[in-house]
Amino acid sequence: MNSIQTFGQWIKQRRKALGLTQKELAQQAGCAEVTLRKIEAGDLQPSGQLAASLVAVAGVADADLPARVGFALGGGERYAPAGRWSKPRRPHNLPAQLTPLLGRELDIAAVRSRLREGARLITLLGPPGVGKTRLAQAVAEEVLEEFEDGAFFVRLAPVSDPDLVAATIAQTLGLQMSGSNSAALQLRAYLEEKHLLLVLDNFEQVVEAAPLVDDLLRRCAWLHVLVTSRQPLRVRGERQAPVRPLALPAELPGASQSTASRLNRNIKH
Ligand SMILES: Nc1ncnc2c1ncn2[C@@H]1O[C@H](COP(=O)(O)OP(=O)(O)OP(=O)(O)O)[C@@H](O)[C@H]1O
Ligand SMILES: [Mg+2]
Repeated sequence: MNSIQTFGQWIKQRRKALGLTQKELAQQAGCAEVTLRKIEAGDLQPSGQLAASLVAVAGVADADLPARVGFALGGGERYAPAGRWSKPRRPHNLPAQLTPLLGRELDIAAVRSRLREGARLITLLGPPGVGKTRLAQAVAEEVLEEFEDGAFFVRLAPVSDPDLVAATIAQTLGLQMSGSNSAALQLRAYLEEKHLLLVLDNFEQVVEAAPLVDDLLRRCAWLHVLVTSRQPLRVRGERQAPVRPLALPAELPGASQSTASRLNRNIKH
């Protein structure tokens, strides 16, 4: 099998492996048969929601699934496996997970797609324990190789003073403070040319530090920030992405009602 395929070729291959006709797969994914025929032939690019439905109905749950959806959403690129199990080449401090991630494939793809579209500040919003941190870490892992200077996870849960946020980020990045300039200024100078993803976890603790994030994004053209928070930052350019509780197992097969499609629809500009 050729390891490089178009999305259409891939979905056709999956459909045949499952023994489904075009009509059957189209019905299950909620589109017209002619639409699927065109997608398989490469004559039509599916919408984000339809791509997510097709991928979910095609029934794969492997590590490359988010990349497949992202590829379908992303347009003319060709799909190649993400190589998730290889050692990352980019610098990072992302924690190794001890338990498998459940049911967030499409949410990851939706956030990744927003980043690719140019969103530089995405806030994963939700109540305590809904899975914001876990989702943010999974997104960061997924996009790590796309950021030349890597991805860094900053724990703000122990920080209650907004004035300490810059120093906490700097410390996480391994930045040595020197001279009399403030931590914010030194951090800004360091990040100015960096193509890097910062994950700011539990920002609700220090929401008064939102202007710092705004300033960093304005001054550092290649910086991207993924925030988890129980409340939004309310700064210009923020995309708010409500995180829903995981679907119950009985709901999982229906991608059209998935958390991801809801997340995608809910991302606010
Ligand atoms: N998709 C998932 N698959 C497996 N475990 C998950 C998933 N989402 C969350 N968990 C687990 O559930 C627990 C709570 O998730 P998480 O810490 O991400 O919530 P949170 O929304 O960040 O909460 P808080 O607002 O308190 O920071 C963690 O132990 C996490 O590992
Ligand atoms: Mg959290």
